[in-house]
Amino acid sequence: MSKKSFVVMLVSAIVMWLGAHSFAGDNNYVGVDDCKKCHKKDKKGAQYKKWLEGPHAKAYKTLATDDAKKLAEKAGVKGDPQKSEKCLKCHVTGYGLAADRFGEKYKKEDGVGCESCHGAGSAYKKKKVMKDRDKAVAAGLVIPDEKVCTGCHNDESPTFKEFKFDERLKEIAHPIPEGAKGGSEE
Ligand code: HEC
Ligand code: HEC
Ligand code: HEC
Ligand code: HEC
Repeated sequence: MSKKSFVVMLVSAIVMWLGAHSFAGDNNYVGVDDCKKCHKKDKKGAQYKKWLEGPHAKAYKTLATDDAKKLAEKAGVKGDPQKSEKCLKCHVTGYGLAADRFGEKYKKEDGVGCESCHGAGSAYKKKKVMKDRDKAVAAGLVIPDEKVCTGCHNDESPTFKEFKFDERLKEIAHPIPEGAKGGSEE
């Protein structure tokens, strides 16, 4: 192989690697309100409402309770649990990332939002992309499996109880009803 074609190959390999790795990883967290726009209708499964009424929407508020303060004390956390890295890392979306990774509508008050499980949404939230699962996944949409859950549901949590994926998943299920997929939405 000539030196020149080796360099060309090397450069294109690097470009491909960067393309595959930086695209989805650098998306921004747009916040729950953006997802709500298209995922609130009953006939489509009312994902927003199910999330809002479920445990994850209150994950940040929970850190202000007396229970949280007691747990924090036991865990050796000084001060306000709502300001402690040791608690926030599992009780809000995208904790610890640089400020430029969050859109204007992102709020930590939304606790564990859609993008905690489905990935940062800036690139996949466009309708054209969302309608096509393959395109959405290529743009960073995560179809969450057990590993996503155990990123937080593990024994680092001061209240950890055994995590049985199938059972826990049922408690937060928000499927699109059979027959309602595709077609017109919003
Ligand atoms: C402009 C409207 C729109 C916005 C905004 C939007 N979605 Fe979607 N989403 C759709 C449509 C349309 C589908 C396709 C579902 C269908 O077949 O009805 C979809 C599908 C999905 C799916 C299912 C993918 C699959 O095939 O299993 C997930 C998960 C999802 N969206 C999450 C999100 C999240 C999280 C956000 C916010 C970051 C978001 N969406 C924002 C319109 C939208
Ligand atoms: C970013 C961290 C995070 C991720 C990821 C996460 N959870 Fe949670 N989950 C929490 C927190 C924090 C609470 C407690 C919220 C509260 O009570 O305020 C919770 C509570 C729950 C509860 C109610 C309490 C319980 O343990 O029975 C269920 C059920 C649950 N999560 C299921 C899941 C499932 C299923 C997944 C994966 C698909 C998942 N969670 C992913 C952080 C997370
Ligand atoms: C490794 C992730 C993780 C960390 C770190 C974490 N939590 Fe949690 N927290 C969870 C999960 C997941 C739940 C849901 C119940 C469970 O399975 O533990 C939860 C539930 C809670 C609850 C509700 C308990 C209940 O079931 O009523 C409180 C209060 C709480 N956490 C406080 C804290 C405080 C305070 C800190 C910091 C000292 C903290 N958490 C750190 C993941 C975490
Ligand atoms: C705690 C993790 C978690 C959170 C938070 C969460 N989801 Fe999901 N979502 C899941 C899991 C797990 C599935 C099922 C994936 C599968 O089909 O295997 C799912 C499926 C979906 C689907 C596809 C349903 C279908 O039938 O194809 C849509 C749409 C969706 N979520 C939208 C949202 C929106 C919008 C939010 C926020 C309002 C949200 N999700 C919050 C974990 C989560």
